[in-house]
Amino acid sequence: MATFDDLETPAVLVDLDVLERNVSGVAAWARQAGVRLRPHVKSHKTVEIARLQVQAGADGLTVAKVSEAEVYAQAGFADLFVAYPVAGRGKPERLLALSDRVRLTVGVDSSEGAAALSQAFAATGRRLRVRLKVDVGFHRAGVSPEGALELARGVAGLPGLDLTGVFTHAGQCYHQACWEDVCHAGRHEAEALVAVAEALRAAGLGAGECSVGATPTARSAMFVPGVTEARPGTYVFYDATQVSLGACGLEDCAMTVLATVVSAPAPDRAVVDAGSKTLSSDPLRPTPDGYGLVVEPARRSRLQRLSEEHGVIGVEPGECFRVGDRLRIVPNHACVVSNLHDRLFAVRGREVVGALPVRARGCVR
Ligand SMILES: Cc1ncc(COP(=O)(O)O)c(C=O)c1O
Repeated sequence: MATFDDLETPAVLVDLDVLERNVSGVAAWARQAGVRLRPHVKSHKTVEIARLQVQAGADGLTVAKVSEAEVYAQAGFADLFVAYPVAGRGKPERLLALSDRVRLTVGVDSSEGAAALSQAFAATGRRLRVRLKVDVGFHRAGVSPEGALELARGVAGLPGLDLTGVFTHAGQCYHQACWEDVCHAGRHEAEALVAVAEALRAAGLGAGECSVGATPTARSAMFVPGVTEARPGTYVFYDATQVSLGACGLEDCAMTVLATVVSAPAPDRAVVDAGSKTLSSDPLRPTPDGYGLVVEPARRSRLQRLSEEHGVIGVEPGECFRVGDRLRIVPNHACVVSNLHDRLFAVRGREVVGALPVRARGCVR
C-alpha cells in the first residue's frame, strides 16, 4: 500500500478522516439550528468532496463563478447558488443554459446587473431566482441594508426574475482580534440580514431565504432566529488562519502541504520546495505571521518568506532542518491552495487512498 512517504513533493494531502469529521460536524450544527446547509465549494473545487457534503445533508451547493457552476452541473449537482453579483459579457447567456439543467439561483447587488439578467431571461420566456447580496460590514460587494428595500423593489419589478431571498458574507470576521469578536460579527451578520429580510417582507417582497455564510461565523450566525441557510466553505479543510482566529484546533486541519527541504545554507535558514505557487502568498489572518505552520515534524520555525518556488524558513534556535527532510505544512488559506493544484492526495493516516482531481481549478469566469 502506498504511503505519502512515497510521494514526490510538493504535494497537497487531504486527511479524509479529519475532512469527514469536519463535514459531518458542520452538517450537525445546521440540523441542530434548523437551517439548510449550502456549502461553498470554492474551497475545494472537487466533485468528490461536494458529494460527501451532500451525503452529509447539504441541500445544495454554493459557487462564486458561473464556470464553477458549469462544472458542478456537469457532474450532476442539481441545486446551485452562484453567490456572486454576476454581471458582464456572456454571463446571462451561460446562466440561461445552466438554468435549463439545474435549479439555479444567482446573486445580484445592482439594478444594472439585475436588468441584464432580466433582459436575457424575459426574452426567452424563462425565469431566474435571484437573491439580493447585502453588505453587513465587510464592505466588499453588496447593497447596504439601508439601500436594500429600494433595490429589492426594482428587482422584484423586473420581468423574468424571482426575488427569493437575501444573503451576506461576513468576511470582516477574518479581521477580528479575538474569538469573542468573531462570534459577535457572526451574530451581527445574521441579525442585520434578518432585519433586512423582514423589512422586505413587510413591503410585500419575496425574501424567504435568509442565507449567511462564512466558516468562522457559521455557528454563531446560523442559530440566530430567522436565518434559513448557511454557506460556509473553508470548514472542510480549515487552515492556519482558522486556527489563529479560534475557529478550530490544529487537529481539525485536513489539508497539509508535503514539502522537502532543498537547501539549508545557514543555521538560521532552510528552504523548502513549496513557494507561493504551492502555498499561495495569502497572509495569516487576523495577524500576519509567516506562510504556514510546520506540523510534522512539529516546529516553532515559520516560513518567513516565499518566492515562487522557494519557501524560506527562519530556523528558530534549537531547531534544525537538513536537506532531504520532509515536512507537512498547514497552509494559511486552504481554498487558494486547492486552486493551485491539479489534484489533492487523499490520505488516511500515512496511507494514500486516492487522488481528488480539482475539477473546477482555474474556473474564474
Ligand atoms: C459569498 C460567500 N459565501 C460564503 C463564503 C464562505 O466563507 P468561508 O471561506 O469563510 O467558509 C464566501 C467566502 O469567500 C463568500 O464569499
